[in-house]
Amino acid sequence: MKVTPRAEGFGACIEDIDLTRPLADDTLAAVKAAWARHSVLWFPDQPLDLDQLEAFTLQLGPFGVDPFIQPMPGRPNVLELRREPDERATNFGAGWHSDWSFQPEPPAGTILHAEVIPPVGGDTLYADCHRAYEALSDAMKAMLAPLRAVHSARQAYGPSGVFAKETEARTMQIIVSEEAEQTVAHPLVVTHPVSGRKALFCSPVYTVGIEGMTRPEGMAILRFLFEHIVQDQFVYRHHWARHMLTLWDNRSTLHFADGGYDGHLRVMHRTTVAGDRPQA
Ligand code: SIN
Repeated sequence: MKVTPRAEGFGACIEDIDLTRPLADDTLAAVKAAWARHSVLWFPDQPLDLDQLEAFTLQLGPFGVDPFIQPMPGRPNVLELRREPDERATNFGAGWHSDWSFQPEPPAGTILHAEVIPPVGGDTLYADCHRAYEALSDAMKAMLAPLRAVHSARQAYGPSGVFAKETEARTMQIIVSEEAEQTVAHPLVVTHPVSGRKALFCSPVYTVGIEGMTRPEGMAILRFLFEHIVQDQFVYRHHWARHMLTLWDNRSTLHFADGGYDGHLRVMHRTTVAGDRPQA
């Protein structure tokens, strides 16, 4: 297996590996180590069918729980992210977020496999929450250390959320629900369970406040962090190719699905790997 990291160490291309078959123990250990070290891995030319995609996911850990989106028929753990050429609804994932951070135990990772890639647009952007944290001043780090951020799915999937208000037709079946109003608090600065590195853990889509603070107080801090994390210096823009697979770490990254492909089909298959309760 060949690992080619980007210059900053955030993101790495993994080649000379066949994900269609079960990985040998040492190869699997090397993939897990690279995942913790580089946060985003991409594997070109991996023509997996859905059984193989599920089998690869399960080598990394149990499936995560994917709420609010109808999964593929007969595949409760696979989402199809599909946007038709004539679709005008905003592309799915077009806001900076870490997957399902409103869950008590958010998924450790997400796997996305490219089936149909448009000839233009459709990149995925990833922000490095480790380096974003490390770039803060010691005074800011000390202020953030004891804080717990409040996460909720309500802005996206709640009865007054973005999807509830949508007027354009969408191929993906989104399930708007009162359950999205629930909140859960996680440390604002988390420690990666494998690498021990600290990372900012908040996003404009799912983080709605800071425990013990008024909304204006909490949002003032959060808005600063949202802008800080997605500065160019921390962001990697990923270009897709058919049959490329990416694996990213939700504990150390945010991601954003870019649009720019109206008139073209884009089809991706997505699974999540279960995670633990985030720790400070
Ligand atoms: C997502 O999982 O948020 C979507 C990513 C993408 O479609 O590029």
